[in-house]
Amino acid sequence: MARFHAVVANSAHFSARSGDILLDAALSSGIDLPHDCRAGRCGTCLMRVCQGRTFGGESRQHGMIYACQARVFSDLTLEYDVLPPVRRVEARVTRLLKLTHDVVELTIAPAGRLPILPGQYCRFIFKGFPARSFSPTAPLDRPPAGRSFRLNVKRLRGGRVSPNFGRLIKVGHPLKVEGPFGSAFLRRGKIGRLVLVAGGTGFAPMWAVADAALRENSQRPMILIAGVRNLKSLYMWPALRRVARLPNVSVIATAEEEQAGHPAILKGRPNDHLPELTTSDIVYAAGAPDMVDSVAEAAETARAAFYCDPFEASGHTDEDSGWRNVLSWIGAA
Ligand code: FES
Repeated sequence: MARFHAVVANSAHFSARSGDILLDAALSSGIDLPHDCRAGRCGTCLMRVCQGRTFGGESRQHGMIYACQARVFSDLTLEYDVLPPVRRVEARVTRLLKLTHDVVELTIAPAGRLPILPGQYCRFIFKGFPARSFSPTAPLDRPPAGRSFRLNVKRLRGGRVSPNFGRLIKVGHPLKVEGPFGSAFLRRGKIGRLVLVAGGTGFAPMWAVADAALRENSQRPMILIAGVRNLKSLYMWPALRRVARLPNVSVIATAEEEQAGHPAILKGRPNDHLPELTTSDIVYAAGAPDMVDSVAEAAETARAAFYCDPFEASGHTDEDSGWRNVLSWIGAA
């Protein structure tokens, strides 16, 4: 006979059979826990186990699990961040700007409100094209204004969506935006040093977090590490320059290829240049999964809080093969 366990998640109560996937048990009881990919990749279903025991789905953060992967094996008390509700709104492309040879910036005006926390991502369904996920970011060269979404996207050779920005997808193109999703968002009201690590267009969510954190508290200590393959792809330079003059912010720019004549650009990947981490640090990473894993390991060793956005969590390097278009990062969609 099946054994049932009592589960409390924030203020919601439901029961789950022993061995059930936590998220499935919640959804089948009518409890809409936050989720998106249901595959342990996006982090939207991240929750803290306050009491009880689960099996599987452990995240890199101590005591945190992915509800879509964890199985219930005892009564449970869980806590999770309350996220803005998922909505779908009509929208239109209002601007396209080439930032580098391979990164384009899109401005998208939604027809309705779609609240999103800095660092979260949404799904963008351009009319006539498959859905892609991107993290809205802040303007690189000035403070944000209005409610338009700004995306920094890498054109992926062979992709079905990103190569069409500026070609089949132009200003005025209609789309739907659905979201928000993801757990690598800024937790407001904290004072710990922020260590933000971005590879390629993984800079998009990290910059959204940095910008919002500094608008909340301009004195907050922060280390912002941005890496690219070579100088030609350093599209985020205006943003780095903007914050580098703040005494509380350290900026580290890295390039995988040797950049002769540019001593300010360190050779290597962002994770090669991490500072010494402490337990009071709050660390974020976005970009290629192996880079994110390396940062996760360092954060875990230091017992620092860690949030991540591994854009392409299943090893995809092609836009069309990823559930979450690697929008940003080495390949941002
Ligand atoms: S829904 Fe669980 S990680 Fe995405």
